[in-house]
Amino acid sequence: MQAATLNELMAYAKKHSIGIGMFNIVNLEFAQAIFNASQDTGLPVMFGMPERFFQFYNGAGMALFCQHLIKDSKTPIAIHLDHGKTFDGVMYALKAGFSSVMFDGSALDYEENVKQTTEIVKIAHSLGVSVEGELGYVGRVGVDALDEGGFTDPDQAADFVKRTGVDALAIAVGNQHGLYKGVPKLDFDRIEAVRKKVSCALVLHGGTGISSDDFVKAIRYGISKVNIYTAMDVAIREFNQQRFTEYEYYLDYTKDLISVAEQVAREHMLLFAKEGKS
Ligand code: 13P
Repeated sequence: MQAATLNELMAYAKKHSIGIGMFNIVNLEFAQAIFNASQDTGLPVMFGMPERFFQFYNGAGMALFCQHLIKDSKTPIAIHLDHGKTFDGVMYALKAGFSSVMFDGSALDYEENVKQTTEIVKIAHSLGVSVEGELGYVGRVGVDALDEGGFTDPDQAADFVKRTGVDALAIAVGNQHGLYKGVPKLDFDRIEAVRKKVSCALVLHGGTGISSDDFVKAIRYGISKVNIYTAMDVAIREFNQQRFTEYEYYLDYTKDLISVAEQVAREHMLLFAKEGKS
């Protein structure tokens, strides 16, 4: 099997009324864990790699590893560039065979976001790759203040999708990246309002810390893709801190580390598919 595109997975999500999980990869163990969870649950998934991670590992090499996993997959899986921030970063991912790219122009002013996203959509579509854009600003807990002024405006979302031709749109509805301080409060009316105005798939970033009920409700209101990273990071660091010294061999440790990451991915994937139809 070849890597699925974002479009193929979003069509699957809509058809089955589920959300599809995208999990960011730090190393090969993360990739293996996400793959195992997908095979075990029979649910599609997305390997995610943010452009900023390419300073830590070779993104093209990691994509190659993912492609080899996908060759033996019985579920559709995409290789996705998460938060592509630069034109060169997106081109690098396209050359490396990513099947899905995000261009995050949310920090740009609106017209510049439209212009740069449109350019990337043209190039990616000519290569058969689908594109996620972002409108509204999904910041990071502790770095950016949560400001309703930065939430996605439904009318502007309609204009953005029409002009850029994106296949999916990440929206700001009270979600943030990282560990929430207190209980996150999602603006479900806004999700529904954006859903009514745009035809493309909607994406919820900052999945870690959102309650099970809110995930299910967000998917019911129109979210088709949910991004998770911090939950995997926390689970693996806790495992590392509590268990590392028990192991005589690193190889045995990595086997169990994969199981820990796999469990995090599996739980989220099953939750996102909880109200799914076959
Ligand atoms: P969390 O790290 O909050 O789970 O968010 C992940 C994300 O949205 C990556 O784009």
